[in-house]
Amino acid sequence: MTFENIRWTWMNGEFVPWAESTVPLSTHALHYGTGVFEGIRSYTVDGEPAIFRLDAHLERFYKSAAVYGMRIPFTPGQLTEAICGLIRRNRLTESYIRPLAFVGGETLGIRAQGSTETAIMAWPHMAHVSEQSRRRGAKLTVSPYRKFHASMMPTTAKACGQYLNSRLATMEASRRGYDEALLLNIEGTVAEAAVANVFVVSGRTLRTNDEKSSILMGITRDSILQLAVAEGFKVEVGTITVEDLCQADEVFLCGTASEIVPVAELDGSRMGRGAPGPVTSQIRSAFDRAKTGASSEWDHWLHRLAAEDAPVETAVSR
Ligand SMILES: Cc1ncc(COP(=O)(O)O)c(C=O)c1O
Repeated sequence: MTFENIRWTWMNGEFVPWAESTVPLSTHALHYGTGVFEGIRSYTVDGEPAIFRLDAHLERFYKSAAVYGMRIPFTPGQLTEAICGLIRRNRLTESYIRPLAFVGGETLGIRAQGSTETAIMAWPHMAHVSEQSRRRGAKLTVSPYRKFHASMMPTTAKACGQYLNSRLATMEASRRGYDEALLLNIEGTVAEAAVANVFVVSGRTLRTNDEKSSILMGITRDSILQLAVAEGFKVEVGTITVEDLCQADEVFLCGTASEIVPVAELDGSRMGRGAPGPVTSQIRSAFDRAKTGASSEWDHWLHRLAAEDAPVETAVSR
């Protein structure tokens, strides 16, 4: 992943050249992780960019901010306009979009209210998993790090500091030669992977967990639950155990950056009959059709960029 071709970012209402989009060293979020963010993607639909489930991502963005007492001083309409403008200015079609709201640098007191700074980056690609894992299946390991409980930090918020937990688990899994870490919750059942939710497939049933298992409520997870029903599968939402994973026909991970990643093995034991299994493949093609506008049923998930969001070169103020 490289940022060298990004020309513009958006900060607090203005398009800003990449090299000038800096923050002071006293930024509260840099010290304490006091920020919230989103990971959103645009895909090519009829030759133009279309943003996948933008409304759902923005809704979660505002909710995450509210949890940490931050008020984002822009409306969803203004952020939508900013995101579309950024895609056009950076001449992107397929992109990864990262809105970020964080406590600014006026003071470093832990209880300081501070200003809420709002920024957006967009760049061509965010790779959380290797192409090999996506194609042949990921090697998953149960992490010695547990996912924190909602009584410690609200797991349904996508907040910067919370990702130290994901980072520790990922680093530890990589050190032992695995692709992905599976975090259990404090009850000892499955929470999620470091940056993805988990599905288990048994016959024609897909099962995933929810916030009661200390997960981030993924938007890809929600899309898959809806797509699976439309594809004629039964879906269940409830607790998942490591035993369920071991006995499943197929297991896959899902998230915006990685989309749908089959799991090939768990701590050295092969999953099902090898990955990707037929159900994972079917769900993946349904997802691919939805994100590229090939199935009109899911057209309401796509925010197509309007012709008036055409590229412009100058920085603008709001
Ligand atoms: C901890 C965690 N769980 C799940 C997900 C999947 O969420 P989404 O599908 O909304 O990207 C992510 C994505 O970044 C994540 O960071």
